[in-house]
Amino acid sequence: MKRFHVWVLPSIAAILIFISSCAPQPNKKVPAKFEAGQKYFHQVCSNCHGSDALGKKTKAPGFIDKEFLPEAYSDDEIRQQIVDGSDKMPSQRNKVTDAEIVEIIKYLRYSQKAAGLSASDDEEGEETDSSAG
Ligand code: HEC
Repeated sequence: MKRFHVWVLPSIAAILIFISSCAPQPNKKVPAKFEAGQKYFHQVCSNCHGSDALGKKTKAPGFIDKEFLPEAYSDDEIRQQIVDGSDKMPSQRNKVTDAEIVEIIKYLRYSQKAAGLSASDDEEGEETDSSAG
């Protein structure tokens, strides 16, 4: 049939839409100014780092965690991790622009605050290096 190709393109489009919708989607609503970062995060990072940056059952950590508050893990460190990657995380250099990285970081910082995390309410205020666990 000569008309075969007429439905091939829409089918391919449908398949692509299906595939791209497989990345975990956000469950939380964020203020408009953080929506761009939320979108980029869920396009690029949520496959490994989970919906709403909460982590999922992979080796990639969630970021709504004291360990990743600005005091413990700076914006620069996040940027560097995205750009350089690590043994376990492939570099995301080709997936995000510098501007998108800035938005992702803003979104992560907002999400940490929205979750009520703060560096000071740690148990017993331990200042010493507790590397256990
Ligand atoms: C293919 C899966 C994958 C993707 C995509 C991914 N990461 Fe990761 N990420 C990981 C893994 C696995 C680790 C744990 C790495 C380790 O322990 O060295 C990690 C660790 C991190 C860390 C913490 C590193 C540390 O020192 O503890 C940050 C920050 C991070 N990722 C940010 C991001 C951001 C932001 C994105 C999106 C731009 C992203 N990642 C995309 C897999 C991924």
